[in-house]
This record gives sequence, C-alpha cells and structure tokens, in this order.
Amino acid sequence: MIEKPFGHDLPSAVALDKRLLRVAHENQIFRIDHYLGKETVQNILVLRFANGFVEPLWNRDHIDHVQITVAETVGVEGRGKSYDGTGALRDMVPNHLFQLLTLIGMEPPSHLNADALRAEKAKVLHAVRPLDPRRDVVRGQYGAGRIGDTAVAAYRQEPDVPRDSQTETYVAMKMAIDNWRWAGVPFYLRTGKALGRRRTEITVQFRQAPLTLFRDTPVERLPPNDLTLHIQPEEGVSLRFGVKIPGPTVRIDGANMKFSYSDAFEAQPSTGYETLIYDCMMGDASLFQPAETIEAGWGAIQPILDAWQQDPRIPLPVYDAGGMGPTEADELLARDHRRWRRIIR
Ligand code: BG6
Repeated sequence: MIEKPFGHDLPSAVALDKRLLRVAHENQIFRIDHYLGKETVQNILVLRFANGFVEPLWNRDHIDHVQITVAETVGVEGRGKSYDGTGALRDMVPNHLFQLLTLIGMEPPSHLNADALRAEKAKVLHAVRPLDPRRDVVRGQYGAGRIGDTAVAAYRQEPDVPRDSQTETYVAMKMAIDNWRWAGVPFYLRTGKALGRRRTEITVQFRQAPLTLFRDTPVERLPPNDLTLHIQPEEGVSLRFGVKIPGPTVRIDGANMKFSYSDAFEAQPSTGYETLIYDCMMGDASLFQPAETIEAGWGAIQPILDAWQQDPRIPLPVYDAGGMGPTEADELLARDHRRWRRIIR
C-alpha cells in the first residue's frame, strides 16, 4: 500500500511506477487516495447509476456546468517545509479533485469491479482538453486574516516557509472534457487552505428552463436547478428547484430539498482510511488508483506546472485568510456569466 505523493510531476510519477513494477505486479499495488474511502464519494456512483431519473439527464443536453469545491479552513498544519515544495495544485488536484471529477464524468461501467471502474475513470482524464495555464487557471496564496475568532498568520509567516515563497495555497481552474457526453459543459474546480469554511461539495447545475411561460408575470429570472453532493463535513445531497411564492401573483423562489446521511442513518463520518485498509486486506482494488489514472492526472496538470515554473510573472494574488479565495477566481466564472456557489453565508 502506498500513499501519495506519487511523484511530483508526470516524469517522476512515470519513473516511480516503473520502479514499483520491478518489485510487484500492478494488481498487487494499492495506491491510496483517501477520498475514495469516503462514504459520500462512493455514493456518487449509487446516486448516478441506481436512480433511473439521474442518468438520462446527466449530459450536455441538460447540464449547464459542474462545480467541484474542496475548501479547507486549516493552513499547512506544521508541514510548512514539505508543503512549500508541493502547493495546492499538486497536493489536491490530480488526486482528490480528479477522483471527484472522474466519478461525476465517467460512463457507466459494465461491472463494479476494479478493472471496469478504473478503466472508465481513466477515460475521463484522457478526454480532458489541454489546459491553458494563463486563461483557465487562477492561483493564490493566503495572507493574514481571521477564521472565526482565531487570528491566522500569512502563509509566508508559517514556520519553515520562506518569506518570499511563491507556493500557491489556492487554485481554481476551468476544465473541459472533450467527449460526447460533456462537450461544451465546463467543470470548474477550486481548492484552498485557510478559507472561511471547511466544505467539500460538488454542484451540478442544470440548464435554465425557458422563461417564455412567465412572460406576462413579474418573474424576471428563474432560479437554477442544481443538485449538490455534500461530501464533507455535512454529508448528503440537496436539490434546488423553483417554487411559487404564495400570493395572488406568480412569483418564483428557489427551494431546497435535502437529504442528510446523519439524519437518515445516524452515520458517523469516517476519514476514508478505515474502508481502504479493509478493502486492501480483502484484495479489492476498486477504490485504489492504478498507474494509468495517476499518470493521466499528472498529464492533465503538467502544462500548469510547466508554465508556473517557467514564467514567474504569472500572478500569485494574496487572499485574506478566512475569506473565499482570490477575486481572480470569481472572475474566471464571471467571464462565462456564472458564479461560484456561496460557501460562507
Ligand atoms: C491530504 C492533503 O491529502 O488531504 C492535505 O495532503 C489535506 O493537505 C487533506 O488537508 C484533506 O483531507 P480531508 O479528508 O480532510 O478532506
């Protein structure tokens, strides 16, 4: 069993896989991504494939865009030295965020076994359109601020972090999956440390209904329908839809229908590792990563790593600890006339 980091870029990941394959067969290697052990992450498959109404809508005809957010309130938690050589992109994106991306984006596998599942997930990563690091990606680094009642020092003031560090603690990006299901549907991903709220969630926003029917009413715009998968700390699913505000005229508001794991099952959140250790002992590799997806993940972000290394002029805006990240990340969506889902109320 091996836990990340699996290399620090594509060439080093390929070299690591080669070394591992000298001592073990691929099916004997269990590469951990602890996100895959989380109940709510595994629930993505059940939600998509065990509910007849979901899959027919799960494509470019009905979905406007997808947002994946992994917001953390923690800073670097005393890991300044190693984190500074890593940064948010390497630490979170090709692994945890791409796991969520592939589960949302994959085609239905023919079986639930490891080979079938992993093959479908790899195909999603292979279909990612090459990113333009200057246009599609925003990075940031936290400055001083407050999270709740606690004062937080700037990243560059953390122990073992160089005072002139250029390491990002936040990254947001716009991705495209170039296949028949997803052509034209942007996937917006963001993750950062020292943000105002801890929250991992995926929002699938459906296309707007046409407003024509309400032409003669005061309704100017309809609330978007979105389905949000709450991964942590709340665990559940919610669906937003339009309802009529009671009264003599037609006015419409967004209402939320919510399912919560803790209410329904009195389930205790787990870290994910419990499940993975058990599965490994049983020899079930479904929730582990094969070399192919690791390498495809690094391949997708390699252009960003290269650009950041070669061009120090690419901006690294500072955002306030306790906020929601740099305003440049809001602009990334505003350009497309969209907005991030609010995380801090
Ligand atoms: C780890 C990263 O893989 O995942 C950490 O190295 C991050 O930087 C952690 O804080 C997040 O895990 P979780 O389960 O708290 O979302």
